Amino acid sequence: MSEMLKKIEQALLSFLPPENAYFQTVIDSMKYSLMAGGKRVRPMLVLEFAKLCGGSEDAAIPFACAIEMIHTYSLIHDDLPCMDDDDLRRGRPTNHKVFGEGVAVLGGDGLLTLAFETVLSERAVALNGFEKCAQAGRILARFAGTQGMIGGQIIDIESENKAISLERLKEMDRNKTGALMKAACLMGCISAGADEEKCRAAEEYADKIGLAFQIVDDILDVISDEQTLGKPIGSDKENNKSTYVSLLGMDECRRLSSELTSQAIDQLSAFANDTTVLKDFALYLRDRTN
Ligand code: IPE
Ligand code: IPE
Ligand code: MG
Ligand code: MG
Ligand code: MG
Repeated sequence: MSEMLKKIEQALLSFLPPENAYFQTVIDSMKYSLMAGGKRVRPMLVLEFAKLCGGSEDAAIPFACAIEMIHTYSLIHDDLPCMDDDDLRRGRPTNHKVFGEGVAVLGGDGLLTLAFETVLSERAVALNGFEKCAQAGRILARFAGTQGMIGGQIIDIESENKAISLERLKEMDRNKTGALMKAACLMGCISAGADEEKCRAAEEYADKIGLAFQIVDDILDVISDEQTLGKPIGSDKENNKSTYVSLLGMDECRRLSSELTSQAIDQLSAFANDTTVLKDFALYLRDRTN
């Protein structure tokens, strides 16, 4: 895993735009958040599913970088004063605190567009062929957009200061967090040329770990500390957010995250190869402290 992490960090850096005398501020803003660490959960999922389906890590690397760019942009915008208004991210002051709101909006937009440039880059095409790059781009667009992450985020901001149903909450979390997990697992499968049955199992695995991931994120917002988490705690309560914790309480959240993790692991039986890493990964995400 640490070797893989190193590879991801290097590749992310390599896909950033070259220095530019006129646009450097926005490039600095993009680099500031993209290279600030983070767990790199989504790129790891891309690479692990590519390997599981008989593909290569190297071919899947551009797809792995693209999903991390989208995720990082979503965090920059999520932290803005008009959204969650948070001051700390990945252990550093948030993008708008350093660069100002206008630059942070553009830095986020820059990462969003760079993600598609990366999926369709000469490097990606040389490694995967046009067809797989087009498929990956389609998946990324779908799950990052209104039928995915953006859809979830709009439910999130429209659910502040009100009680919402469990069904709506689930729909919110499946989209705001689960959707990018799905895109990650599917892009790994696409790079490896996996069949439909495997893609379906990967999507189901992602759906379960995605929901579990947001439940754990909601738990950590209550019980963790700023130092460990690298972002503020108590943000959800301060913004009067509807979360799994506020709706169901801590014990039920723990039970649900375990149940979803087991269901995710069950999906791995669709794969003939060794799935130990992805099983352990699901357990690590359930038990994580940051
Ligand atoms: C945080 O995602 C936002 C959610 C979707 C809950 P991560 O917990 O993956 O954040 P980083 O990438 O490690 O900073
Ligand atoms: C955000 O969920 C999910 C995104 C799409 C960015 P949160 O608002 O709970 O994420 P954190 O806790 O700020 O990382
Ligand atoms: Mg939010
Ligand atoms: Mg937030
Ligand atoms: Mg949160």
